[in-house]
Amino acid sequence: MNVLLIGGGGREHAMAWKLAQSSMLDELYVTPGNPGTVRHGRNVEVNLKDQRALRQLIIDKRIRMVVVGPEAPLVDGLHDRIAADPQLKGVTVIGPKAAGAQLEGSKEFAKEFMLRHNIPTAQFRVFGKDQLKEALEYISRAEGPYVIKADGLAQGKGVVIATGRKEAEKALNDMLGGNSLGAAANRVLIEQFLHGMEVSAFLITDGEAFKMLPVAKDYKRIGDGDTGPNTGGMGAVSPVQFADKDFMGKVHDRIAMPTIRGLRNEGIPYQGFLFMGLMNVGGEPYVIEYNVRLGDPEAQAILPRLRSDLMDLFEGIATGTLSERHVDVDDRTCVTVVLASEGYPANYETGKHIVGLDLVQAAHVFQSGTALKNDELVTAGGRVLSVTAFGKDAEHAILNAYASASLISYDGKTHRTDIGQDLLAMGAKGAGAPGAKAGVK
Ligand code: AMP
Ligand code: GLY
Repeated sequence: MNVLLIGGGGREHAMAWKLAQSSMLDELYVTPGNPGTVRHGRNVEVNLKDQRALRQLIIDKRIRMVVVGPEAPLVDGLHDRIAADPQLKGVTVIGPKAAGAQLEGSKEFAKEFMLRHNIPTAQFRVFGKDQLKEALEYISRAEGPYVIKADGLAQGKGVVIATGRKEAEKALNDMLGGNSLGAAANRVLIEQFLHGMEVSAFLITDGEAFKMLPVAKDYKRIGDGDTGPNTGGMGAVSPVQFADKDFMGKVHDRIAMPTIRGLRNEGIPYQGFLFMGLMNVGGEPYVIEYNVRLGDPEAQAILPRLRSDLMDLFEGIATGTLSERHVDVDDRTCVTVVLASEGYPANYETGKHIVGLDLVQAAHVFQSGTALKNDELVTAGGRVLSVTAFGKDAEHAILNAYASASLISYDGKTHRTDIGQDLLAMGAKGAGAPGAKAGVK
């Protein structure tokens, strides 16, 4: 089967790498892809909003399956457009239609959905553009920390956690009163602050059955010890000890199952990945957010652990037979360290020569912010590479990932040095032991 993979980050490089291992794959096309994905398929250019151009590409290349990496094309209705195109009959899209993608595209929609289906999440209130006064009043009566979220897609910039009231008022004024984030902040949510440890859980579904995929922990802040501004993610570890059997059982029963059943009962078709961003509050899972895709860099840590053929799972979606497929997972730990450009997530320089990739033997290096300049690999983004290594446990995986990361160099190479250290510290305290209440402050 010929497949078109959409996206060009580390997540999509990892997906391309994984798909290329399948005997069910004939040709893989990636758009836009990156210099890493050309090792597993062919990069092609197409404007996804230009239905004629996309249709032509799908027909010319005999593509039978379109796999969507990022959320934006899904929220934008890419799946709907392909499904409605009579010339593209029988083309499967991995990723939900716009209605299902609302789980990520509108935080208000996601919250209302969770309320309807009794899915545990932080309490919240929603305020519209003309309710700035009410929102400020609400804050004046509430206790901090204050969690303020723009309703729409805001490229990771839509959430402000304000410790003080002044900061909260500023965020509300910026979002509802001003122009910050534009239409994404036409409606704003104020949420109860949840104390606990975050974990990213994933499932794949054909809309009827679903299969849980490995869990991962993401490291969102730029600095060691979770300091500094939020980024797209600076590293990942899979599995996560505090997401033990008991906790994951609750995730399955109280979150994954009612979510898939709820979508079905509401007549919202959903096929593809679902990312459940969770908070472990005293051993109880709460949903912080849904995403309608895999995480980046979580994908780089979970796909290497997936022993099953990803094409086989996608085929299960195409034919509505996911229930008959198996998800087989490697027991070992994977650690991913993201190498970024100095200055990220603010301004950074690009065009720096990257050397040493050929020296890496004991890890996978997935590319994201890279480009070819006169046939040489240079930096071209904030997050440049993800280095993923296995270990028999977290300690060994961390050592292996950092040893490989140290072989790579470029001007301004920046990374966290503490990926996974919090999990090791918890392990030492026995927090990962069965029955232990993990992550409660
Ligand atoms: P989101 O974009 O919704 O994932 O929010 C970004 C980050 O803000 C999350 O990864 C959490 O670290 C934090 N966060 C969001 N909502 C809450 C909440 N209700 N309580 C505590 N932290 C939160
Ligand atoms: N790493 C978090 C995300 O992909 O949203």
